[in-house]
Amino acid sequence: MKFLVLNGPNLNLLGLREPGIYGSKTLTDLEQDLLAFAENEQIEIVCFQSNHEGDLIDAIHEAVNQYDGIVINPGAFTHYSYAIRDAIASIQLPVIEVHISNVHTREEFRHTSVTAPVTMGQIIGLGFIGYILAIRALMDKVGGKQG
Ligand code: DQA
Repeated sequence: MKFLVLNGPNLNLLGLREPGIYGSKTLTDLEQDLLAFAENEQIEIVCFQSNHEGDLIDAIHEAVNQYDGIVINPGAFTHYSYAIRDAIASIQLPVIEVHISNVHTREEFRHTSVTAPVTMGQIIGLGFIGYILAIRALMDKVGGKQG
């Protein structure tokens, strides 16, 4: 099994960016955790981060025929990018949306996700472990353990 983990805008600044909200670990720490998990589970995980909407859309399109599923944290695009929503809706792969922070305890504009309705589900507010939980859910889905 092979999964793509996509991180959107400003997530390259994890560790520096609002550490009270996102914690002190960096994107590299997150990606290392994911690669260690992948090795342990004998699956493949590829990580990609971009601050650009079009790059994320291209990555979603190109994932077809290469990956078994996608974990995406679209960052602020979550709240308004119909283009990312349409890209997710256009592909057949299972997609899970992750947010490190609990967006529901934050500003009103973060309470809406335009992308979530076209995903398999969301994992919100659990920090970095949310990405691992999302991969686990994709493994079950792809392995036929979950409907
Ligand atoms: C985020 C929440 C978004 O509202 C914010 O714009 C981000 C990060 C999260 O992981 O908690 O960039 O997606």
